[in-house]
Amino acid sequence: MKKESPSEDRRPPEPSSSWVEPELAPALRVEPIGFLRSGKRTKFALPHQPLGDEEERNAVELVPGKQLEQAVQDLAGFERIWLVFWFHRNQRWKPQVLPPRGGRQKRGVFATRSPHRPNPIGITPVRLVSVEKRRLVVGEVDLVDGTPILDIKPYVPAIDAFPGSRAGWVDELERERADAPRFRVVLSELAEAQAAFLRDDWGLDVVERAAARLAVDPSPHRTRRIQRLGSELRMSCGAWRVFFDVAGEVVHVLRLAPGYPPAYLADPAKTRIADRAAQIAFGARWPESALP
Ligand SMILES: C[S@@+](CC[C@H](N)C(=O)[O-])C[C@H]1O[C@@H](n2cnc3c(N)ncnc32)[C@H](O)[C@@H]1O
Repeated sequence: MKKESPSEDRRPPEPSSSWVEPELAPALRVEPIGFLRSGKRTKFALPHQPLGDEEERNAVELVPGKQLEQAVQDLAGFERIWLVFWFHRNQRWKPQVLPPRGGRQKRGVFATRSPHRPNPIGITPVRLVSVEKRRLVVGEVDLVDGTPILDIKPYVPAIDAFPGSRAGWVDELERERADAPRFRVVLSELAEAQAAFLRDDWGLDVVERAAARLAVDPSPHRTRRIQRLGSELRMSCGAWRVFFDVAGEVVHVLRLAPGYPPAYLADPAKTRIADRAAQIAFGARWPESALP
């Protein structure tokens, strides 16, 4: 997509020529407003994000003597809240980390939700169950028992959720996962013989290519050229047709057929049909395969 150049007053300020530390007065300082009580002491017992168990209950206990009972007023109407917290069980940070998903590729820590951050601050959108003075009962959390809570904010879908936004390497992984084979492809005896004929006599890997596509998704689809024909399905694979059915996660390839009817193939004027000679030979060997 073409990006428009921002008008003059919307451009970011010019980068400074030398690094100047902005003056911080008073000095940066954070203090916990409370602590998470999850009863979970080991990090490994925790989910990577709080998205699974709807029944689980935990609590945020707010520090007494700071008027925090007043600060949580009006919060009970929100279904979710952001907990801003300190990853207190981290010793050091790493510029690049290996996220739990996605092979052995390290990512810049700021492109991840890893705990190993230069300022070990995390955010988590938990379900708010009830507000009982200085105790907030919350749903599932991804935080160990005793995690210091630095701040609480209401989760407002209209402000906090941008479901259509690009998500870099996470999107790439999702796409790869969508392309991962999920079906087992089994060939009938007839399909095996036809596959061997095309491969050995004509150097055509029609069945191998079809099987790779069917293993990912055999459902009817216009772009993938898969059509339901009664109890069977048919995929068009170049000049060939592959007939199959699906039972659970198994695709049974039943048989193959040339994509053109015999009369069309026999027409000496139709010299540009793909795999024409192979289709004619195939039709001679399996005449019943011919399309009407
Ligand atoms: C991947 S982080 C995500 C945290 C938060 N949802 C975020 O996006 O900032 C969650 C993991 O941090 C680890 N963890 C939880 N509490 C921690 C703490 N207090 N100190 C260090 N690591 C913690 C656990 O292994 C948990 O699975």
